[in-house]
Amino acid sequence: MEELSLVKNQIKKYVKECGDQKSIELFEMLAQGKMLRSKLILKIAGVNDDSVKLCSVVEMIHAASLLHDDVIDEADTRRGKPSINALFDNKTSIMFGDILYSKAFTELSQMDKKVSYTISNAVTLLSIGEMIDVDLTNDFNTSYDKYFDMIFKKTASLIEASAKAAAILANKDEVAFALYGKNLGLAFQMIDDILDITQDSKTLGKPAMLDFVEGKVTIPYLLLHERIEDKEKLKSLYKKPLSAEESAWIKDEMIQNNVLIDSISQAQKLGLEAVEAIKMDESEDLKNIMNQMIHREF
Ligand code: FPP
Ligand code: MG
Repeated sequence: MEELSLVKNQIKKYVKECGDQKSIELFEMLAQGKMLRSKLILKIAGVNDDSVKLCSVVEMIHAASLLHDDVIDEADTRRGKPSINALFDNKTSIMFGDILYSKAFTELSQMDKKVSYTISNAVTLLSIGEMIDVDLTNDFNTSYDKYFDMIFKKTASLIEASAKAAAILANKDEVAFALYGKNLGLAFQMIDDILDITQDSKTLGKPAMLDFVEGKVTIPYLLLHERIEDKEKLKSLYKKPLSAEESAWIKDEMIQNNVLIDSISQAQKLGLEAVEAIKMDESEDLKNIMNQMIHREF
């Protein structure tokens, strides 16, 4: 997508405007993401000065949240490259996150009031989502409601807000696009949680089956706990480094209990609901973004 380079250039411009050489150098070290939020915004609002600026602000907030998240999760890698906390230290990652985050808010404060309210409110939600995520790693969570509330806040809220803000910019149906963004975000996080189990570490760019070791009881584990006979064995492996044999046992039980298939179809159902919400929109692109995400190799 050629338009994404407009967003990348705008972000660089914003970082340069901060007037700090170290920030520019740290920014160059960040691994590129897929820019999902920008793709949505540009598809919904078209490519213009306002939409490119909105994309830049959202990507900077997202990057800041990951810089903080890697400290919280003690992650050594991000998108297959060493994370900033691994290359430098936690302090650098937090402070650089703060710089990106506050510059994004400076620019957001200059935008349409409804747009800036929508995005800033989502950042409160995503911060709360991160806190719930951390709290949920204390014990083996068996509540679907808690899992969905957490993934909505941590991941879907900013995607929902991006789609809604883009609709506001373009004078489109903000309720419909918000619903599209929310369901896309939920499906996205669920698929991320499924891939943690089904893909190898090389493809993931981080160790496979790390979620359970880190105390995260994601949708496949919730379903497995509900269906498996030997619940005690599953619980005994929670938050422990897994041997090859133990990982294989979990995966095998997931297959025997149709857990992966059912998790995938729950994510796909949300994806189809998202596409349904925007069926009045002529553009095929938003439907394609969703379809590519939910119909893939798992
Ligand atoms: C990744 O989750 C984390 C998020 C999507 C949100 C993190 C939010 C915060 C740290 C609070 C907001 C802070 C600022 C500065 C705006 P994950 O750990 O499940 O995914 P991962 O595997 O990509 O790390
Ligand atoms: Mg993380």
